[in-house]
Amino acid sequence: MSEFDLTEQNMYYRDQGRKIARECIRPLAAELDRTGEYPHKLFETLHKENLAGIWVPTEYGGRGASLLDLVIFIEEMARECGGMAAIYAVNALGSFPLILVGTQAQKDKYLPRIARGELKTAFGLSEPQAGSDAGNLTTTARVEADRIVLNGTKKWNTNGGIAGIYTIFANAHPEKGARGITAYLVEKDTPGFRVGKREQLMGIRCVPVHELHLEDCRIEPSQQLGAEGEGFKIAMQTLDMARPGIGAQAVGIAQGALDLALSYTQDRQQFGQPIARNQAIQFKIADMGTQIHAARLLVRHAARAIVQQSAQSQLYASMAKLFASDTAMSVTTDAVQLFGGYGYCQDFPIEKYLRDAKITQIYEGTNEIQRMVIARALFKAASNKDKQ
Ligand code: CAA
Repeated sequence: MSEFDLTEQNMYYRDQGRKIARECIRPLAAELDRTGEYPHKLFETLHKENLAGIWVPTEYGGRGASLLDLVIFIEEMARECGGMAAIYAVNALGSFPLILVGTQAQKDKYLPRIARGELKTAFGLSEPQAGSDAGNLTTTARVEADRIVLNGTKKWNTNGGIAGIYTIFANAHPEKGARGITAYLVEKDTPGFRVGKREQLMGIRCVPVHELHLEDCRIEPSQQLGAEGEGFKIAMQTLDMARPGIGAQAVGIAQGALDLALSYTQDRQQFGQPIARNQAIQFKIADMGTQIHAARLLVRHAARAIVQQSAQSQLYASMAKLFASDTAMSVTTDAVQLFGGYGYCQDFPIEKYLRDAKITQIYEGTNEIQRMVIARALFKAASNKDKQ
């Protein structure tokens, strides 16, 4: 398909992502889905190829890839396995707060190791009772002598246990609500920090998702990330930057399902001909391809808006995540239907795409939250227009 709107650099990351996906991800995908094991082999290859942290700025040893390059790379990975793409995307998400607001010393300490793939990151915002209502988190931070003491439980922590550094959001002034939240960098081996229960997931099963426990976890004041009380805004800015990556994961999953459906419907014979000769099948294929193309354009548009620091970045990031994940769900559901009974069994890879797609409507902000963000932005824009 024509990619006339991509630069040489964008196409380089597309081709690198495709090569890694075909050579490294495809052979591992089904087995790791069964065992739930982490794709160590993939990350060894990414490390060797200097692709483990492409988004890290060059001054810290990264490739300085743009957000557009990153979403293109993630899409190619997800075409072969939504789980491995999620691990990569969330590693980027975990490092965005550091890139956005880290001090020089914090960046010098962590970013070169993230770029090399030696250090993985995770993002500790959600809690058992604070999911969509992230501002209502109850993990506390208190100053004691020359340390900051963290207490609380984090939930749904992607890359938990594998990550060496966690951005933990905690509230030092609960009376101020979300304005009391500050971000902190917590290293895995800090006393009082413990990786808890692993969740058993429906899809993206190679992804480690854990609870995190902070029990009188004492950190140096130099581990504070960004200004005091700015934590909620940092979390929101991070999510704005990361949501196109989830959109890209969703587009990749949908494209992978379409690839399989195109091949299967041309092979599968019923009533003396390939089922692809039937208009009912062709119409489904046409709708799937059209939805995927529209979702891909929206994801890339959001990434470009963020690179250009557009005032519409948040709006487009939410639109991209919403539309791409709903597309992934609808395309993978149709793909399973095209496979008939075979689509419903694990002998064929297609049912994994459906299971992997579902999470994209849920994490990094449910699609209900994306709709809320989009509607708020549209109402705000309309009221600004009224005032002009
Ligand atoms: N950028 C900068 N600042 C922002 C912002 C943004 N995108 N969105 C909000 N803010 C600021 C507001 O301006 C406001 O600032 P003031 O206090 O100075 O006025 C403050 O933050 C509070 O904003 P809201 O009143 O809009 O906050 P809210 O409580 O209504 O919630 C929300 C907004 C959009 C619903 C937000 O809570 C949200 O995004 N929830 C979903 C959380 C989420 O995505 N969680 C997923 C975590 S990651 C994950 O899934 C796990 C993983 O490992 C990948």
